[in-house]
Amino acid sequence: MLLRKKVIIITGAGGGLGAGLARVCHREGAAVVVADVRAEAAQSVARPCGRRGLAVACDVRVDADLRRLVAETVRRFGRIDGLVNNAGVNFAKAFLDTTEDDWERVISVDLKPVFFLTQYVCRQMLRQKPGGGSIINISSVHSQAVLPGSGPYDAAKWGVVGMGKSIAVELAARGIRVNTISPGLLNTQIWKDIMAAAPSRKECLAHWRAQIPLGRVIEPDEIGELAAFLLSDRSRSMTGANVLADGGMSSQLISKEPYEPKPIQGRDK
Ligand SMILES: NC(=O)c1ccc[n+]([C@@H]2O[C@H](COP(=O)([O-])OP(=O)(O)OC[C@H]3O[C@@H](n4cnc5c(N)ncnc54)[C@H](O)[C@@H]3O)[C@@H](O)[C@H]2O)c1
Repeated sequence: MLLRKKVIIITGAGGGLGAGLARVCHREGAAVVVADVRAEAAQSVARPCGRRGLAVACDVRVDADLRRLVAETVRRFGRIDGLVNNAGVNFAKAFLDTTEDDWERVISVDLKPVFFLTQYVCRQMLRQKPGGGSIINISSVHSQAVLPGSGPYDAAKWGVVGMGKSIAVELAARGIRVNTISPGLLNTQIWKDIMAAAPSRKECLAHWRAQIPLGRVIEPDEIGELAAFLLSDRSRSMTGANVLADGGMSSQLISKEPYEPKPIQGRDK
């Protein structure tokens, strides 16, 4: 087991990717702190973890909630070894129509609390013995290439990559590592919404298969396995990295033609 005796906080863990992260961390032996603004959802994810699970109602937009999350974790488990900044809201609206309220809504969840919760957790990690720990920020394939109408989301997701590198180089000598995971399309509510909005399931699957070289969406537990590795001592050589888990999506310039093109040869002079 990769995470035996480790105590890991995961934000936004009441559903979607966060619930998968919590499941895998628990399976790998960690005590998991399931933090979510939806208290009942957090409890239903923490319950199967038994004594190695703790649900904390936490709105990451509220500074007092972030401080209480750290305090409740230390009160229950005595220390913190890992943090996954996962809570996030999605956004799609034309740039020219985007308001200050839209900007605040995204940045107040996807960017600002990543900085301050990391700070509160790192202060605790430096106080405890043995000190140090591992932080993961959940960014997105949007940290490589973007979609129209996603400005605030992109600002936040590029922001957490840079912020992660900055904290990584600052705290490396003190035993704290900070890495980012950039997932591609995940099998969470977003994918269900995309399918529901398409004229047919068949067309929707064909479109996305063409966009993702692996030919499928990524399961939350698959990102959980990557996160477990980055939270564990096995990844001790890694800090400041942005690890893509996007099924090859960002490596593909455009999708393949739906017809078989003739071979193209360069012309010699
Ligand atoms: N789904 C994808 O395809 C995809 C792709 C790349 C990156 N991501 C990122 O993965 C993360 C999780 O996404 P998801 O698809 O699981 O989303 P989701 O909407 O299914 O789950 C998000 C969770 O965060 C919680 N949450 C929302 N606002 C919160 C707040 N203010 N305080 C505390 N908790 C809050 C929600 O209650 C929910 O449980 C996000 O950061 C997202 O940007 C998702």
